Amino acid sequence: MISIKRVLTPITIAFFVSMLAFGFASPVIAGDMDMSDNSICMDCHEDADRDPPSDPNRPQVHNPDGGFFVESHADFSCIDCHTYITNDEHEDTAPGQEVDCLECHDEVPTKE
Ligand code: HEC
Ligand code: HEC
Ligand code: HEC
Repeated sequence: MISIKRVLTPITIAFFVSMLAFGFASPVIAGDMDMSDNSICMDCHEDADRDPPSDPNRPQVHNPDGGFFVESHADFSCIDCHTYITNDEHEDTAPGQEVDCLECHDEVPTKE
């Protein structure tokens, strides 16, 4: 069971509205980076291998290339999961933070 209603956050809606307003080719909004644009994240994060989660009983979300083991996860913006990323100056604050599966799942998924 899953609830996707929380995924349609104001940020996501603002992103779609801004796509209409500025056109699909423009990743930049009001002189600032649009952090819901995954390609901006991948500009810096393409190269690194993705480590497994700290909890060995929890399924790994990313494959080592930065893609996803579960196809549905690829439909989201990076910041739908990495909600603690609000700008590109997070090299000190982001490491060690955890993605909260309960943003979308009713329970933390476990390995089968
Ligand atoms: C200008 C380059 C840059 C951009 C753009 C950028 N990041 Fe980062 N990010 C970094 C650096 C540098 C670090 C700290 C080193 C590291 O852990 O990779 C970092 C760390 C992180 C971490 C923590 C990694 C860890 O080791 O736990 C996450 C998660 C992350 N970024 C996600 C994102 C997301 C999501 C986006 C897009 C919304 C994004 N980043 C955009 C440079 C960037
Ligand atoms: C469905 C949720 C979800 C989405 C969407 C998502 N991530 Fe993650 N990310 C995670 C989780 C959970 C981890 C912790 C390790 C794992 O389980 O894969 C993680 C770990 C990371 C890390 C740290 C990897 C390391 O070195 O340990 C980076 C960097 C990162 N994600 C970047 C991104 C970028 C860039 C995007 C968008 C292209 C993205 N993530 C989209 C859930 C997500
Ligand atoms: C931004 C929303 C979002 C977040 C956050 C998220 N997921 Fe998901 N996840 C989904 C969606 C949507 C599906 C597809 C569900 C379906 O088809 O019913 C899914 C499916 C899965 C599946 C496939 C089996 C299943 O339950 O359907 C696994 C495993 C999974 N997620 C693990 C995780 C883990 C582990 C985390 C936290 C580290 C996480 N997810 C965080 C949206 C999310």
